Amino acid sequence: MGSIFSVTNQKGGVGKTTTTVNLAASLAENGKKVLLIDLDPQGNATTGCGVDKETIEVSSYDVIMTQAKAADAIVKPEDLSFSVMPTNSDLTAAEVQLLDVKLREHRLRLALESTRDKFDYILIDCPPSLSMLTVNALVASKGVIIPIQCEYYALEGLSSLLKTIERIKQRANPTLEVTGLVRTMFDARNNLANQVSRQLINHFSKKVFHSIIPRNVRLAEAPSHGMPIIDYDRASRGSIAYMALASEFLRQQQKNN
Ligand SMILES: Nc1ncnc2c1ncn2[C@@H]1O[C@H](COP(=O)(O)OP(=O)(O)OP(=O)(O)O)[C@@H](O)[C@H]1O
Ligand SMILES: [Mg+2]
Repeated sequence: MGSIFSVTNQKGGVGKTTTTVNLAASLAENGKKVLLIDLDPQGNATTGCGVDKETIEVSSYDVIMTQAKAADAIVKPEDLSFSVMPTNSDLTAAEVQLLDVKLREHRLRLALESTRDKFDYILIDCPPSLSMLTVNALVASKGVIIPIQCEYYALEGLSSLLKTIERIKQRANPTLEVTGLVRTMFDARNNLANQVSRQLINHFSKKVFHSIIPRNVRLAEAPSHGMPIIDYDRASRGSIAYMALASEFLRQQQKNN
């Protein structure tokens, strides 16, 4: 049965979407069957995978809020090595609508039950908030991947994210765990980045992935072409870094199983 991971950090612009898209592509490159779920109303992962937000027939909104089947929302663009459950701004309404429905924290988990065995790994791109959408992602997940940009405020929001994870663990999903923290947009020449990186390792030790994602302009360009970095510029530092992260992730998963 497919293992589900949330890529989350309520801080905006830290590399969640970039990590979700490129980890998905790198896992697929390793022969894994992968589904990316876009759970952010911004729909950046949808666009980054080359899916047109304007032409989505069934979206993650329909899956969570109506009776739409997950299988009907999943698309597999021809040029892409993995499947996508896309979204668009309709999903904004779900934040409020979810407050009034039964089993509101479990909607996504329940919706995925019939589909998850078709995939090895399911990665969920979360919005930059600890909203009901993020809670739905965490309740459905086995693990949480937390992208961190190593700058001054990086650690500030982390404790409320960890508290949310702990609360969900106690209330709804006892096996949820932090899979790992990923340092993103890293600039090794920057003293502050190195300092924050050391702090992360001191606090979280083994939970910090060894693989570091460097700041790399090719990673920023790839989404505008609707491509993961591995298809856009395979030899770039960004592409090599995400392949290394995928290998490290797979080794960790094999060890745990
Ligand atoms: N390693 C990197 N090198 C250079 N640019 C990057 C890198 N990672 C991400 N970016 C760029 O930084 C911006 C923010 O990244 P991204 O969209 O992945 O963050 P996010 O956490 O998903 O943002 P949001 O909170 O809005 O969902 C984007 O323009 C992206 O292309
Ligand atoms: Mg994003």
